[in-house]
Amino acid sequence: MSESHSNLLQQYSSERESAQNTAELEALRVKYLGKKGEITEQLKGLGKLPPDERKAVGAEINRIKNEISESLEKAMREMALKEQETKLQAERPDHSLPGLFNRPGTLHPVDQVAREIADIFLAMGFFMAEGPEIEDEYYNFEALNVPSHHPAREMQDTFFLESGQVLRTQTSPVQIRTMETLQPPLKMIGLGKVFRRDSDITHSPMFHQMEGLVVGENISMSDLKGTLIMFVENMFGKRAYRFRPSYFPFTEPSAEMDIQCIFCEGKGCKVCKSTGWMEVLGCGMVNPRVFEAVKYDTEKYTGFAFGMGIERMAMLRYGINDIRLLFNSDIRFLRQF
Ligand code: DAH
Repeated sequence: MSESHSNLLQQYSSERESAQNTAELEALRVKYLGKKGEITEQLKGLGKLPPDERKAVGAEINRIKNEISESLEKAMREMALKEQETKLQAERPDHSLPGLFNRPGTLHPVDQVAREIADIFLAMGFFMAEGPEIEDEYYNFEALNVPSHHPAREMQDTFFLESGQVLRTQTSPVQIRTMETLQPPLKMIGLGKVFRRDSDITHSPMFHQMEGLVVGENISMSDLKGTLIMFVENMFGKRAYRFRPSYFPFTEPSAEMDIQCIFCEGKGCKVCKSTGWMEVLGCGMVNPRVFEAVKYDTEKYTGFAFGMGIERMAMLRYGINDIRLLFNSDIRFLRQF
């Protein structure tokens, strides 16, 4: 072998020995065997040799080429294995590391408040009743003493369906459905969606209400007050309250209950519109005409009822001034609760 060729082989060998990884081996392949590699260049140079030398030199270069090529292939295989082994070692799962947790979901503030309110009444011995969201006009209005042409129907702008039914405008029809199936004494609450053609910063076309009804012998206005005072104290803490006379067709007398504003302690602020009071619910003694509709003995039984908006309670509770925040599902808003 010519001196220059054996030098080339030696040079290659020492470079291969010091190659650290497959990338470096690949660089060697390019350097020696690539299109512009040392060996290729030498093969190209054959043409310049005198014809009688070409054959022998060409054979020698080819031998060297094969030698380098085989040696590189072997080195490449071994190096690739070594690299894979190192990678696997590095990736071996460490079972002692703490897990990755997804941020758990939470109840929507409307749901939280609804459950809180329901729990207070359930603890007082009320049971939870249900009724449909698509309701007959009879249950939503007539049986609650709101006849067809009664102006009270306009108090609540109704969504009418082609079937002649309505999307219930209140949870009060749950009272009727409950009384149709059960005899007194009873203490029920009903919770669910209601619908009205109404939409602005304090009104949403769909919102939630909680209804309550107590019927029995000798149920009086003081039972109503005692129950509702206990409720607001549980919900908002001990604070001043008042009952204002009001009107609902299904109760007589009717009232609205206010509590002293929880934000300004009655001094007057934005939340209570400077009145110092926050309206929390409507209530009253069940109108005997409602009992007649469900064939309860009006001589024997009396009762009281109440109703409140859940979103409204959530807004009062948390000082939220725009009801739409509760329906936009903005995670930045919801995470605050
Ligand atoms: N249904 C009434 C409303 O939607 C709320 C209400 C007031 C319910 C007085 C009652 C009640 O049961 O006694 O505005």
